[in-house]
Amino acid sequence: MADKPTKGLADVVAASTALSDIDGKAGRLFYRGYDIHDLAGRTTFEETAHLLQRGKLPTRAELAAYVDELHDGRALGVLVSHNLPEIASKQKPMEALRSLVSLAGADDPDKDSIAPDANLRKAARLTAQQPLLVAQYHAFRTGKDVPPEPDPSLSIAGNFLLQVTGRVPSQREAELFDTCLVLHADHTMNASTFAARVCAATLSDMHSAIVAAIGTLKGPLHGGANEQVMKTLESISPGNVAQAVREKLDAHEKIMGFGHRVYKTEDPRATHLRRMSAELAESTGDDTYYRMSKEMEEVVFESKGLYPNVDFYAASVYHYLGIPTDLFTPVFSISRMSGWTAHVIEQHADNRLIRPDSEYIGERDQKWKPIDER
Ligand code: CMC
Repeated sequence: MADKPTKGLADVVAASTALSDIDGKAGRLFYRGYDIHDLAGRTTFEETAHLLQRGKLPTRAELAAYVDELHDGRALGVLVSHNLPEIASKQKPMEALRSLVSLAGADDPDKDSIAPDANLRKAARLTAQQPLLVAQYHAFRTGKDVPPEPDPSLSIAGNFLLQVTGRVPSQREAELFDTCLVLHADHTMNASTFAARVCAATLSDMHSAIVAAIGTLKGPLHGGANEQVMKTLESISPGNVAQAVREKLDAHEKIMGFGHRVYKTEDPRATHLRRMSAELAESTGDDTYYRMSKEMEEVVFESKGLYPNVDFYAASVYHYLGIPTDLFTPVFSISRMSGWTAHVIEQHADNRLIRPDSEYIGERDQKWKPIDER
């Protein structure tokens, strides 16, 4: 065993997975062997969730059955419904989701089982409920008791936009948001997925693992970065982007939405999100945040050689779609739920406790003294 840890476990292979793979040098991402460039814009989020959780891209019949299962699994349980109003009034979005998913675990009919069939059912229910939890949370905190009724003809993406913005999205808006969900669905051993797997590997249940994942996604170095990107864009005047970015870098501040542990070139998800941001800037007739983002990208690359990651252009895309800034990271969780749950299924199917070692750097040979002599 190595006696020195790699700080942040960089380059450590911590699990085997058949779910996703990254080629960091070439900037490529695959879900179960499918290139993300082939999936994005051509495969729906529902199909992608099926691919991750159930092992294959669905046929039409399999997709219809899975969509029915998602539909049946949407209903929020008693504990969740009872506590939602108070949680919405006291907790910020990601804190609220952490609480609500924990309560959903107690409401789940399979709560006492981690058997493969129970895990598949729970994965579908968690995927179906997460967008509704966010929409219901948003409805309560904005003084409405319920979000608009979902439209059965819309996808998860379309219904989420409807329920959060109160407006039926255009077909193109729903398609673009659906692609966002596809792009965020899974990403190898990212911090939140690792947290979920560590929890699952103790043979704890799926909801507990997802609560660990949500708490981990919340941080600004991970999923929380997309909200921080928007706040940065809003805090800079459009004519002062280059100077503002340089000042931050000179002050050794990190620019949110840039850099990545694994990609040494452009994050392939950013390529799609940049294009979507440009399209929405044009269709909304306001390209301010897209233009600012492009300029930030140029200055950060010129100054630090860093590329934008998935969170950078996601911020302006969500903004153009009318999603409130503090729901950006919850949106990430709606998508990543498909990947997290698939990882829990995979971990439980071939489990061994995840228990690494540590390098001890503290004092040794200390002499104990009674409390009054210290
Ligand atoms: N802005 C400025 N400098 C940066 C940035 C950044 N965004 N990212 C990395 N660096 C610098 C960092 O200061 C360090 O420089 P030095 O060696 O001179 O001290 C060097 O690059 C290595 O950075 P690191 O933080 O040690 O790299 P890491 O592999 O541990 O971290 C990261 C990866 C994504 C946490 C980091 O790039 C970062 O903090 N980025 C900003 C937050 C962010 O966008 N997070 C989203 C990550 S991708 C999707 C997701 O997980 O949600």
